[in-house]
Amino acid sequence: MIYSRIAGTGRYLPEKVLTNFDLEKIVDTNDEWIRTRTGVERRHQCAPDETTSDMCVEAAKKAIESAGVSVKDIDMVIIGTTSPDLIFPNIATLVQHRLGIPACPALATEAACTGFVYALTTADKFVKTGEAKCVLVVGAECITKLVDWTDRNTCVLFGDGAGAVIVEPSEEPGILGTHLGADGKHKELLYYPVGASKDLYKAGTEEVGITMVGKDVFKVAVSKLGDVAIEALEAAGVDRGELDWLVPHQANLRIIQATAKRLGLPMDKVIVTVQDHGNTSAASVPLALDTAVRDGRIERGHLVLMEAFGGGFTWGSILMRF
Ligand code: ACO
Repeated sequence: MIYSRIAGTGRYLPEKVLTNFDLEKIVDTNDEWIRTRTGVERRHQCAPDETTSDMCVEAAKKAIESAGVSVKDIDMVIIGTTSPDLIFPNIATLVQHRLGIPACPALATEAACTGFVYALTTADKFVKTGEAKCVLVVGAECITKLVDWTDRNTCVLFGDGAGAVIVEPSEEPGILGTHLGADGKHKELLYYPVGASKDLYKAGTEEVGITMVGKDVFKVAVSKLGDVAIEALEAAGVDRGELDWLVPHQANLRIIQATAKRLGLPMDKVIVTVQDHGNTSAASVPLALDTAVRDGRIERGHLVLMEAFGGGFTWGSILMRF
């Protein structure tokens, strides 16, 4: 049996940091409201000319270095994002070419905040079947360019960044189980109203931005994140007490706390970066993973559960021995 394992991780965050106090100057909000409702204190924002592929390239370089592989070894690129540079070619081809990776399958998974979990799950299947030997997987988002900066309900929540991993075959696990789900009936609760075949001319104008029914998103997120975590543990026959770390989607501290409570996990077993990154959508899980790997909390052999939830709705979890 071939397993897949994460051989290295990396991240990139744009230079510019926007604090809650900076946002007080842009919309009618305040630090106290943002911190108590969301846990966010600051977030990074792309420069006007900085793109999602720029961030992917930088995060990927770090992951390649930490995995000790060469770009010539990589035989597949998968990128989870909702904010690609272009409608086509797909962002993974841009990143493959810019990094000097030899021609290989390159695809993007668009699953909003679950994009990275969808991407890593896909990589796992290709590695396990022997069809890929070294996959670059990135979750990246320039989501501040999709935000309506006049809407205080949404603009305070989001931030930009990219997190990357290298996935290789292994005789030992590795990834123990993946669980994905989606249900489009919730579309109206969270969406971006413009796309390639609908009102594209409106994109980037003030009347277009992320549209969200926050309270309802909150309720479904807590429920689904709990369900998909329990599903992962039960399928692998793992007791929740055995988990070393939960690396959840960093949407909101209260959602993270509610999920941890449902799993009976103390918060010191949960990686939390939402205070520094905000909600970076598809980048949030790999950013949190790399943060905890590099600061020494997540070590080789630890049992780690990653999970995410996003627009669609989409959701997913990945249980792994790091
Ligand atoms: N600053 C100050 N006041 C604000 C702000 C703000 N930035 N935003 C909203 N308010 C006001 C509202 O206008 C409202 O005022 P009113 O009572 O006079 O009408 C009041 O604060 C309360 O608003 P609610 O929407 O009821 O606040 P709630 O407690 O639900 O918190 C929040 C809002 C933080 C968005 C919450 O619903 C939430 O976290 N939902 C999840 C959304 C989410 O995480 N989305 C990310 C994408 S999905 C994902 O990644 C999972």
